[in-house]
Parts: sequence; C-alpha cells; structure tokens
Amino acid sequence: MKIFIDTANIGEIREACSWGIIDGVTTNPSLVAREKRPYEEVVREICELVSGPVSAETVGMDADTIVDEGLRLAAIHEQIAVKVPIMKEGLKAIRRLAAEGVKVNTTLVFSPMQALLAAKAGTAFISPFVGRLDDVSQFGMEGIEQIVTILENYDYPAEIIVASVRSPIHVLQSALMGAHIATVPFSVLEKLYRHPLSDAGIEKFLADHKKIPTSS
Ligand code: E4P
Repeated sequence: MKIFIDTANIGEIREACSWGIIDGVTTNPSLVAREKRPYEEVVREICELVSGPVSAETVGMDADTIVDEGLRLAAIHEQIAVKVPIMKEGLKAIRRLAAEGVKVNTTLVFSPMQALLAAKAGTAFISPFVGRLDDVSQFGMEGIEQIVTILENYDYPAEIIVASVRSPIHVLQSALMGAHIATVPFSVLEKLYRHPLSDAGIEKFLADHKKIPTSS
C-alpha cells in the first residue's frame, strides 16, 4: 500500500520523507491555511521535496471555474493532482480535466455511490473521508470495503486514497481491505513504527551488548 502524508507542513514532510516510506502528499485549504503562506508557493516547495503525487485543491463552485483553477494548479508542477470536491459541477469538471490529461483527486467523498460516479467521470484518485464519518457515528471504513469492490468489479483505474485518517487502526484496515493508498497525518505516522515491546527489546539488547567482553 502506498502511504501519503496528509499535511502542508514542510518540516513534517521533510522528516517523514527521510524515513523512506512516503509516496505522495495531500493538502487541502485548511492544512495550507495553517502555514500562512501562498498556496502555490507551498505546493511547489512540496513537489520539490517528494517524488510522488501532491494534491492541491480547487475551491470553485462551477465547472468552468474549477477547470480554470485545476489547469492553473496542474501547471505548477507535473506531480500535482488536482483535488475537486464531489458535487454536480465537480463531476463535470473532473471529466473535462481528465480529458486534458490532468490527474484529478475527487475529495470529500462520503459514499460508495459518489466514488462510482467519480470513477466514471475519469478521476485518477478517490478520497473517502473515514474519520469524519466515524465522528458522526457511521463506520467510515465500511465504505472503503465497498469502494474497493466496486472499482475491482469494473476495472476502474482510479486509486482509493483513504483520507481523514485518525489512528493506526484506520491504516491497518486500509491495508487489509486493499485500498491503494492511505493519506496519514504526521502524528499518526509516528505511531505506526512504534511498539513498546520494540523499545523495551532495543533497550535490553543495548544493555546486554555492553556486557559482552571485548576481544583482547
Ligand atoms: C485529505 O485528502 C483530506 O483533506 C484530509 O485527510 C481530511 O482530514 P480531516 O478530516 O482530519 O480534516
């Protein structure tokens, strides 16, 4: 499974990339707003740091505006994937952007039917938000299983990016269900490699290593 980092923070991206396990980055307007820098400047810098897709989001509400915005974002760097929210005008824009060769990441997906329509429109990525569904007492990960099945049934090339990830369990379930990608906040990424038994084991081996006599 590919792992993207879900942040616009350059420090977090640089650190996570140094671990050698990052395949791409997702941003959204809320994440970029925290950086207090222009959107284009931030995503250009991110593209220079990572080798995979970097999602940048459109905010237009009609198809013409979304397409213009998407083409502008895509022109920033060849790695840009243009995020388009699922809605009627979004669907029209996805079809047009895909026809122009732009990789679209359909975002704010909360149902398998939205995912099916995005796949039909030609999206490259589908981002179902699992954490936000959990927040309203719905099982976010159930939708992932259904979207995996739908894409497989009809051989749609779109890749699922499990988004709104809140815990290592979301990442585990994504991998078990066969999602192509999980986009993971830095705080959750750090929890993925840690285990108390690993830490205790390392400490014990280091202590015992000191007891080994050196050759004379
Ligand atoms: C990524 O594509 C999404 O924008 C992000 O995962 C949303 O996460 P949130 O629900 O924690 O804001």
